[in-house]
Amino acid sequence: MADPTDKMENIINLCKRRGFVFPSSDIYGGFNGFFDYGPLGVELKNNIKQAWWQDFVHRRDDIVGLDSSIIHHPTTWKASGHIENFTDPLVDCKESKMRYRADQLFFAPVRVAGETIGYISVLEDETMSAKAEEMANEMKRKLAKQGALEPLTLKDYTEAKPEEHALIPSPATGKPGSLTPPRSFNMMFQTYVGAMQDASATAYLRPETAQGIFINFKNVVDTGRVKLPFGIAQIGKAFRNEINPRNFIFRSREFEQMEIEYFIAPSADWQTAHQGWIEGCLAWFESIGIPRAKLSLYPHPTEKLAHYSKGTTDIMFEFPFGVQELQGVAARGDFDLTQHSDVSGTKLDWFDEAAKARFIPHVIEPSVGVDRVFLALLTTAYHEDEVEGEKRIVLRLPARVAPFKAAVFPLLKNKPALVERAEALYRRLKKRFNVFYDESGNIGRRYRRQDEIGTPFGITIDFDTIEKDAGVTVRNRDTLEQVRMTEDEVVRFLDEQVNG
Ligand code: GAP
Repeated sequence: MADPTDKMENIINLCKRRGFVFPSSDIYGGFNGFFDYGPLGVELKNNIKQAWWQDFVHRRDDIVGLDSSIIHHPTTWKASGHIENFTDPLVDCKESKMRYRADQLFFAPVRVAGETIGYISVLEDETMSAKAEEMANEMKRKLAKQGALEPLTLKDYTEAKPEEHALIPSPATGKPGSLTPPRSFNMMFQTYVGAMQDASATAYLRPETAQGIFINFKNVVDTGRVKLPFGIAQIGKAFRNEINPRNFIFRSREFEQMEIEYFIAPSADWQTAHQGWIEGCLAWFESIGIPRAKLSLYPHPTEKLAHYSKGTTDIMFEFPFGVQELQGVAARGDFDLTQHSDVSGTKLDWFDEAAKARFIPHVIEPSVGVDRVFLALLTTAYHEDEVEGEKRIVLRLPARVAPFKAAVFPLLKNKPALVERAEALYRRLKKRFNVFYDESGNIGRRYRRQDEIGTPFGITIDFDTIEKDAGVTVRNRDTLEQVRMTEDEVVRFLDEQVNG
């Protein structure tokens, strides 16, 4: 399965067919940028969130949790800079009515033997350089120009000079003259609170969970018995009116974030703390089944830093559609707490007992999208292979995150003794784990159905179980190895596999 487009298509099909992810509002033709998680998807998603919460909140002494409202006082977004700065550059094609993110639309002048013969434009993707080259050659051929094509220098549309706007062709029509100059487009979704629908009632759906943490800093410090350095963690929905949602759940308009604001003293070495968080997050990804070899780091160049950041490093993942951001780890300095202190008039500071001094802490922020972790896990786990001469799709999800931890099968459904014993084991296991029961079809097919949804273990009750008290067989999805164990051993075994 060499073609990455095919891999994404196969994963999207599997997600729909087996109930992981559906297009939102499917019966109305879908709604671009929104998705619904089905019975298996919600399990995988919950397991990711639970693993993150366990590892970063429950298993540490220095991080506490929070669940703030999605809609905050609108002044929050003024203070945070989102009203002014949370924008993407937008460009419209007046003819086709298509909209593009200007920083994802690339162009280049086509020059032959020192003469500019026109412009080409391409949308950002892995193959854009090759596409641009092909377009330039085609232009040269059509215009019958002699001489060597000069190497193309692709720039994004935000870098176009005003006089170039009319010369750059729209990707929709292939013709120049219809693209507008780029303009700033605020990505926050607006709503109205209360009965009035005017500016005084405007509020916003949060575009990040982080601000809910900052505006609760004082509440947590006053009530939480925390000591610097400490973190506040939050998992929740975020909303962004993305101009160009794409790559399935990778960039959507409604998604979920898992964020930590980790507060440190201003005198602490923020670079070391930042580096520590980057390494901690890499280790966490590995621990839940995202291989280190598919992860890389992208430190943001200083001139491209977000308005609040002193330094940001993205943890990148090799998705089938290219290497893209999985997580951002930002050093936000004291920007947010200072802004909210100044604008609200409530001091959001820390009293250091030893030094008898007050200061506004600085913050390191690891922020990751649940949906992107979900997609990274699925693309890592998805494999096609052959078992007993039959092609199978297998999701090699680790037991900790897999939707079902095991499936229980009676070897035959028309033998009451087998069925009774299998049902009893299923009921017993279900008290502790999310397990599945299946008695229909031949056993090979039942295994295959579970392989496809990532169930790591298949437990079969056969005649040796009931006639010789020989225990049950436990089949490993990945090695295909089958071992016999007693039902008590199965409980301990699953506990070890799932909870470590
Ligand atoms: N509080 C900082 C913050 O929100 P960000 O880099 O804009 O920073 C953090 O977002 C993470 O949220 C990203 O690394 C990504 O995992 C996820 N994310 C951002 N926009 C997303 C979108 N449109 N769809 C899905 N996930 C998104």
